[in-house]
Amino acid sequence: MPLRRIRIQDLKARKQRGEKIAVLTAYDATLARLLERAGIDVLLVGDSVGMAVLGYDSTIPVTLDAMIHHTAAVARGTTTALVIADMPFLTYQATAAEAVRNAGKLIQAGAAAVKIEGGRPMQKVIRRLVDVGIPVMGHLGVQPQSVHQLSGYRRRGANADEADAILRDAHALEEAGAIALVLESIPPELARSITAALHIPTIGIGAGPACDGQVLVSYDMLGLLDDSPPFAKKYATLAAAIELAAKAYADEVRGGRFPDASRDASRPGLNTATGAATADKAGD
Ligand code: KIV
Repeated sequence: MPLRRIRIQDLKARKQRGEKIAVLTAYDATLARLLERAGIDVLLVGDSVGMAVLGYDSTIPVTLDAMIHHTAAVARGTTTALVIADMPFLTYQATAAEAVRNAGKLIQAGAAAVKIEGGRPMQKVIRRLVDVGIPVMGHLGVQPQSVHQLSGYRRRGANADEADAILRDAHALEEAGAIALVLESIPPELARSITAALHIPTIGIGAGPACDGQVLVSYDMLGLLDDSPPFAKKYATLAAAIELAAKAYADEVRGGRFPDASRDASRPGLNTATGAATADKAGD
């Protein structure tokens, strides 16, 4: 576990040393603390918060205020992971000046960098953000904020024209000063070519094993969501565990078995939300 927070320059050094980068999304302080403790290098406060946490069916309704709120929570919950925040839909596309103002709020909330979707049309915005000292991660391939324009989340880059366009976008973003690129749902061979061609790290999601790092939506890999994309390996089945725990609790409440004598509210420390911690200390 590093003693200090991972920095932007560490990502490039990792690529140069051939060390893979582990990235997961996080949206709140508690999960962020657990993921950091497990050794996750980068926590992405993704606008996937819209589907994972807020109950929307796409990332489009997610607001800047929501992203600021969740970014601040993740920053408060961590001490060593690099925190990167997504800029939500229509907070960076209109003008570079607006992008700077909005990205600045995410940096003030505790992010070390922001992520934006899009290729060559985003070059100017990225240059401006970098000029004022805001590191930017790019995002190519499937771009969820363009779900209507792209008519869904179809894999990108499968034909030669699309693959060529994505490769040219990748070069353009590196040239504009991006610190890293997310490559989402593109063929593994294309991701391999981009990774080999760039000096900045590529972070893949549904883009094969050759990328410099991988990212997954934490709620997918923890098995919390009903619908997950096929590339999202489940490393746990927390939905089932939560349902079982909640059912056991409801059964005990209804059966009068909770609380029992050992949870007597008159014992010191047991009658608050943080009771467990104070009770442990009291029992020392
Ligand atoms: O919003 C998000 O979670 C993302 C990842 C899928 C890369 O952009």
